[in-house]
Amino acid sequence: MQGRSPFLIVANRLPVDRAEEGTWRRSPGGLVTAIAPVLQRREGAWIGWHGAPDERLEPFDHDGMHLIPVPLSDSEVELYYEGFSNATLWPLYHDVVAPPVYSRVTWEAYRTVNERFARATAESAAENAVVWIQDYQLQLVPAMLRKLRPDLRIGFFLHIPFPPVELFSQLPWRREIVEGLLGADLVGFQRPGGASNFVRLCRLLLGLQHQKHEIHLDGRVVRAGAFPISVDFGELDSLVREPHIIERAKEIRAELGDPECMLLGVDRLDYTKGIAQRLKAFEELLCEGSIKAGEAAFVQIAPPSRERVEEYGRLRDSIDRQVGRINGEQGEFGLQPVQYMHQSYGREELASLYLAADVMVVTPLRDGMNLVAKEYIACHNDLRGALVLSEFAGAADELRQAFMVNPYDIDGLKRMMLTAMRATPHDLSRRMRSLRRRVATYDVDRWAKGFLAALEA
Ligand code: ADP
Ligand code: G6P
Repeated sequence: MQGRSPFLIVANRLPVDRAEEGTWRRSPGGLVTAIAPVLQRREGAWIGWHGAPDERLEPFDHDGMHLIPVPLSDSEVELYYEGFSNATLWPLYHDVVAPPVYSRVTWEAYRTVNERFARATAESAAENAVVWIQDYQLQLVPAMLRKLRPDLRIGFFLHIPFPPVELFSQLPWRREIVEGLLGADLVGFQRPGGASNFVRLCRLLLGLQHQKHEIHLDGRVVRAGAFPISVDFGELDSLVREPHIIERAKEIRAELGDPECMLLGVDRLDYTKGIAQRLKAFEELLCEGSIKAGEAAFVQIAPPSRERVEEYGRLRDSIDRQVGRINGEQGEFGLQPVQYMHQSYGREELASLYLAADVMVVTPLRDGMNLVAKEYIACHNDLRGALVLSEFAGAADELRQAFMVNPYDIDGLKRMMLTAMRATPHDLSRRMRSLRRRVATYDVDRWAKGFLAALEA
């Protein structure tokens, strides 16, 4: 077992993928943002796919992390990643906001790839190692891994919502997925509701006994629990105190024509994020004259994601059209009300954007947590800034002082956006102080320590 790791993160994606020039850059999404600092602080390795098909790579080190690539063929990318993970599980777990595709072919690929991840993990783990498996792409790995290596401590964390039994039951392979998860010693969810859904499912579907959130099977106990994920508060908080970030934030506002109010959205281009709803609310506010184009600028950052999945292509076309219409109808020469960017940005540019924005608009139709909301808060030690937050984001449980909205209710959203834009400095600082207290206390380090302590107990 020499050269094997005592601690392993297993996720579909490695924390890096290839930039166009062939260099490595951070891969997208909340999972990577949250877990990368955990591994950097603890000796171990990360097992995952590096984002390109048909390429075998040797393990390598990057940014203080030891990375072990798992290859995917072109057809596996299509069937396992784009297919079962992102055209079946993703919409099913997000309240069916898009119709899930049920296909036996993609299910087979999901099983095959999960088996490969389980084998790669079994070969890389030291005796009695702690293995932490991440997210919906790898739900069969816990049971597969336990079969190969019963000595391991296995944790699983789901970064996205876990649906109610009534929705989950649509899945033709529901039993296999639940049995897969039950291979873990600890199954973690973002919200208490997710953990309860899972325990209820174990009882109703598999007839298993449980005491509260402890499920009994085969002489073992599997625990389920809520561990709301968070951000590296300290990193962002010190970043926005740097003079060059403060300067860049001012520059961003100047580039926008120094509007009275800058609104910001930062999301992967995903149909769960409610981008169309927030733009519609903004468009109507402009149209009816509640706000003027020069008075407010809306910056929407939305790097394209999972582009070959049909629903994502459709979404991209429709947001492109919507932005074009708003700017065409509401803009003036040299003045576009919506700035729409597809790029990925580094941490510094993102922090500058958060710092520059007066109103952060986070309106998912359903979201496991939403780290963007917490990142915005971490960037506002100036106690300025308003967070408009969907009640359907996991973050809504903790961030009660945000301006809460139901993104399906466009009139309500308009009202709350206006309220946030016009709030007094006193009201904003009162809310922001309380929001910051929460995020500073429950940061990503505390989240990871909490999960791992429960797993290793
Ligand atoms: P999800 O995990 O669904 O993508 P989250 O809001 O939880 O949503 O996490 C998104 C993460 O991706 C955040 O850490 C955010 O800073 C990062 N991110 C989003 N858009 C960009 C972008 N354009 N450039 C760089 N990072 C981004
Ligand atoms: C969310 C998911 C992650 C995923 C990320 C980016 O955060 O929970 O598992 O990695 O989105 O999506 P992608 O499909 O590009 O990996």
